[in-house]
Amino acid sequence: MRIILFGPPGSGKGTQGNLLEKKYGFPKISMGDLLRSEVQDGTPLGKEAEAKMNRGELVSDDIVVKMIKNRIFKPECQKGYIMDGFPRDISQAQRLEEIDPASEEMAIEIYLSDQAALNRLGARRVCPDCDAIYNLINKPPKKDETCDVCEEKLMLRDDDKPGVIKDRLKIYHEQTEVLIEYYSRKKVYFRIDGEETVESVFQHISSLLDKELARSQEAEVTK
Ligand code: AP5
Repeated sequence: MRIILFGPPGSGKGTQGNLLEKKYGFPKISMGDLLRSEVQDGTPLGKEAEAKMNRGELVSDDIVVKMIKNRIFKPECQKGYIMDGFPRDISQAQRLEEIDPASEEMAIEIYLSDQAALNRLGARRVCPDCDAIYNLINKPPKKDETCDVCEEKLMLRDDDKPGVIKDRLKIYHEQTEVLIEYYSRKKVYFRIDGEETVESVFQHISSLLDKELARSQEAEVTK
């Protein structure tokens, strides 16, 4: 099963992806984290991606598709995987289906208003080492700006400045939101209200996923 999480910046894709990975054991593949790690390591790919990311623009398809191909065929992804931040437009959605046509899929939009996204992202802090996600207002670390898990100093992402957040939201509305119609037509689209609490969003997604997994297993048995 391929579980696609999409939604505007700050909607909680990373937060929910981490929780789902823990509960179901499907690896979470975060395109943003993969790209940020290339940037941090100063690789040629990271250098190419960095400027675009800092402007809130999408990195070229050639780069992100190559990274996805390297990741989804690893043995741990065989039973299923969670996509956080891929696909971001219809061309990426189609490329994904070409690369891995056999996987069943569900596409879950986590809906959030632009104002709520702006409020949340200014208070987000992330761990550069283990990618844990915090929020100074509603999910603060135990010790001041330090990761609870690995004790690294937390950081503000370069693209979490108000001007860049607005550009990212614009790009989301222009290029990614069309996935709602795309996946609705394929009858694999689900919508969750991302303004509810983390726990409540997680419960909703889990209950959708439980139903889909049960349906898929039943179909497998009756084959
Ligand atoms: P990426 O890292 O994927 O950024 P994004 O999509 O903008 O999403 P975010 O990571 O900002 O937010 P999120 O939805 O994961 O929210 P989170 O859980 O952190 O991509 C970054 C860049 O990489 C892109 O701009 C682009 O340049 C490039 N890129 C990535 N994928 C690409 C692709 N496929 N093609 C081309 N380029 C690509 O939560 C946010 C905050 O809210 C946290 O503080 C959290 O604690 C808090 N929070 C979460 N849920 C709740 C809740 N329910 N209630 C209250 N607070 C909450």
